[in-house]
Amino acid sequence: MQFISTINAANAARSLPLALIAAASLAACSGGNGAVETPLQLQIGSVDPQLAQIDLGRKFFFDERTSAPQGVSCGMCHNPSKGWGDDRPQGKGVQDHTLAGDVDGDGMPDHEGTLAVAGNYFKTILTPRNTPTIYNAHVFPNIFWDGRAGDLVHQAQFPVEAGFEMNTSWDAHVLPMISADPEYTQLLTDAYGDGAATKQRLIEAIGAYEATISVFDTPFDDYEAGKLYALNKQEKRGHKVFFGKGGCFQCHPAPLLTTTGYANTGVPTAGSFALNGGVDLGRGVYTDLTQDPPVDIDNPADYAKFKIPQLRMVGVTGPYMHNGAFSTLEEVVEFYDQGGGPDLSGTGTKDPRIVPLGLSPGEKAALVAFLEFALTGDEIK
Ligand code: HEC
Ligand code: HEC
Repeated sequence: MQFISTINAANAARSLPLALIAAASLAACSGGNGAVETPLQLQIGSVDPQLAQIDLGRKFFFDERTSAPQGVSCGMCHNPSKGWGDDRPQGKGVQDHTLAGDVDGDGMPDHEGTLAVAGNYFKTILTPRNTPTIYNAHVFPNIFWDGRAGDLVHQAQFPVEAGFEMNTSWDAHVLPMISADPEYTQLLTDAYGDGAATKQRLIEAIGAYEATISVFDTPFDDYEAGKLYALNKQEKRGHKVFFGKGGCFQCHPAPLLTTTGYANTGVPTAGSFALNGGVDLGRGVYTDLTQDPPVDIDNPADYAKFKIPQLRMVGVTGPYMHNGAFSTLEEVVEFYDQGGGPDLSGTGTKDPRIVPLGLSPGEKAALVAFLEFALTGDEIK
């Protein structure tokens, strides 16, 4: 398997300050996902292979024929005009009454475990988790809220066959559809020298495209680079709370604004877990997809821990947290000020750094301004 890391490095070199690249490669090394970096071998004629690959990835990303029934593309859930998310607490996949049927023949409806929005049982299929933004996802070695995938290329193979999302098959549906489309054949030829549609080529192309969705030039970045006027007074005050009294930097340190680790902050349940009365154990119970074959992990020491998200563009990527429990940044700041929520892990994993902060109303407002404007900027608002 060819990993995206080398493509990342090339793209990163265009947009990332050196310190960030160094931090990112460190993170990649310590990620422990077994990813072996192999150089890209795509030197074909006069075509810039990376650009052709990116075009191919972009076409796939927004192609609504890649689901069954048709109508759900990657870009519908990771929508550029919604901060590369979907503005919803939980993701919404294919809509189809037939999903209540018994296609796998086990005597039970195939989606019996899935509760959906009121009145539409089995019709509107909700994912149990919030759709994360893919801004800057190419920099990190741990993908998904529980880190179960290794990198963007590795991740890109899964949504197509996920029942909650695109509900189809690479071999039976997607690859034949792509092979029969002359526009795809041309893009494949530009990128790889011939028109053969393979899953590996397509997921590499999706990863290459996603690696272009990169933002490391927020007002915060300008400020860190010495442009003191990049933040207004209120945002500077918020910066001080973030890197001081608020203790945010302990898990969201500069420059990446994440340690790339996992923590239990006590986020309350929401979505299908709340309806079922269950608890999402996150990093504690997941299938490690980076192993071949995948390995089921059950580690009580990690129950209810979730990935510490990178916070750039957070002003436009709500609702927040792994399950969309909070719809505004005010709610997020209030949550932290109160010392997070109750420990739902049952194994005492709540992070000791999550304690009541005693922030004044002014400090809270400043922290929100820092998140909403300094980390986001106003280019796309
Ligand atoms: C039905 C909505 C939906 C569709 C369609 C969808 N996704 Fe997602 N995506 C999600 C949700 C929900 C998650 C979080 C799942 C989790 O963490 O368990 C996610 C997670 C991701 C992540 C991880 C980001 C991170 O930082 O951890 C990437 C990358 C991603 N999706 C890319 C894609 C690509 C590529 C496609 C198309 C092949 C796609 N998605 C299709 C909803 C969707
Ligand atoms: C102990 C580590 C830790 C500390 C300290 C911490 N965070 Fe977080 N942060 C996390 C984790 C883990 C998540 C994801 C939690 C989840 O989804 O259940 C998160 C999520 C967030 C999110 C939501 C991002 C998104 O895309 O959904 C924001 C915003 C945020 N933190 C801001 C802050 C601020 C502001 C502070 C300081 C007041 C802070 N964090 C302190 C670990 C931490």
